[in-house]
Amino acid sequence: MQAFVTRRIPREGLAALSQAGVCSIQQWDSDEPVPRSELLAGVAGKHGLLCVLSDQIDKEVLDAAVDVTRCLVKKSSPTEGSNLKIISTLSVGVDHLALEEIKKRGIRVGYTPDILTDATAELSVALLLATCRRLPESVEEVKNGGWTTWKPLWMCGYSLSGSTVGIIGLGRIGQAVARRLKPFGVKTFLYTGSRPKPENAVEFQAEFVPLAKLAEESDFVVVTCSLTPDTKGMCNKDFFSRMKKTSVFINTSRGAVVNQEDLYQALVSGQIAAAGLDVTTPEPLPTDHPLLSLKNCVILPHIGSATYATRNAMSVLAANNLLAGLKEESMPCELQL
Ligand code: NDP
Ligand code: DGY
Repeated sequence: MQAFVTRRIPREGLAALSQAGVCSIQQWDSDEPVPRSELLAGVAGKHGLLCVLSDQIDKEVLDAAVDVTRCLVKKSSPTEGSNLKIISTLSVGVDHLALEEIKKRGIRVGYTPDILTDATAELSVALLLATCRRLPESVEEVKNGGWTTWKPLWMCGYSLSGSTVGIIGLGRIGQAVARRLKPFGVKTFLYTGSRPKPENAVEFQAEFVPLAKLAEESDFVVVTCSLTPDTKGMCNKDFFSRMKKTSVFINTSRGAVVNQEDLYQALVSGQIAAAGLDVTTPEPLPTDHPLLSLKNCVILPHIGSATYATRNAMSVLAANNLLAGLKEESMPCELQL
């Protein structure tokens, strides 16, 4: 069997793949994304695909997976002529995968939940504190001479103590964020989602509320939901107009959950106090993007899961998912389609 790996991944993951003796590996061995033409060529005839979140695995890629020789011999359609049986993504997010098409073709999907939850929750808290206590702006002031003396009214921000925190998506990462924020003295947790999840909420005595109420009552909004057709553009003009002028918005889920033009207007007009984003649309955000000109917007380059240990573990899990899929065995973490 043959597998295509679309990116340079941690050594541990690649070793797990090559030492298993299950498949031969073709790899795009670069930190930069595989060009689309190389992806289409690379997947042709392969039985397995190990991809990352910036690879769009859509109908065109699935069609390209066809084994041309087999198709000619059997005179079968492209779908029938494909060897591809497993797509393993080095991510918990699966919004880059055309899931309906994948399901239709009977291809299985592996992903990497849980092992990145702690790292992503840590980063979410770091980003929240950096944003509400204005850390990047303060560091800049020290460097550029703006720090002239201790000033009673200078560089003030907002505190978690006694606050209301609203979590959009109290899933694995949402709960891990709430668990870390609670000791800061948060008074009330609110959350929203497709339905109440008392089993997730009980630890924080979090109240399930509609999105609009969450916007109106939260001092901090933290977005940790998955990107779906329902959540796309969910944080829009209406949402920001309901938030308090003193509230802080944090997004570590996916950029497309936010309407960035509406967020920009909310930040410029003082409708909300500040925003911290680990994810944007597009990624990377162009360096001349208006959001980057704002002092009250802290933007990170999608580093939620970026610890050495987490990325190593993700690569091994993604490798083991791929191997299990190739062997038609049960996967350590299979997405139910
Ligand atoms: P989970 O599946 O555990 O949680 C997803 C949450 O999204 C669920 O609580 C779900 O709630 C919620 N959700 C779904 N639809 C809606 C909706 N319409 N409104 C509000 N909430 C909704 O996933 P994880 O916590 O493991 O990961 C969440 C996401 O975080 C990933 O999909 C990924 O996009 C992102 N991520 C980002 C990282 C980064 O580097 N910045 C790192 C890792 C993940 P319900 O069940 O009630 O629908
Ligand atoms: C994911 O896993 O979905 C993240 O965005 C990267 O770890």
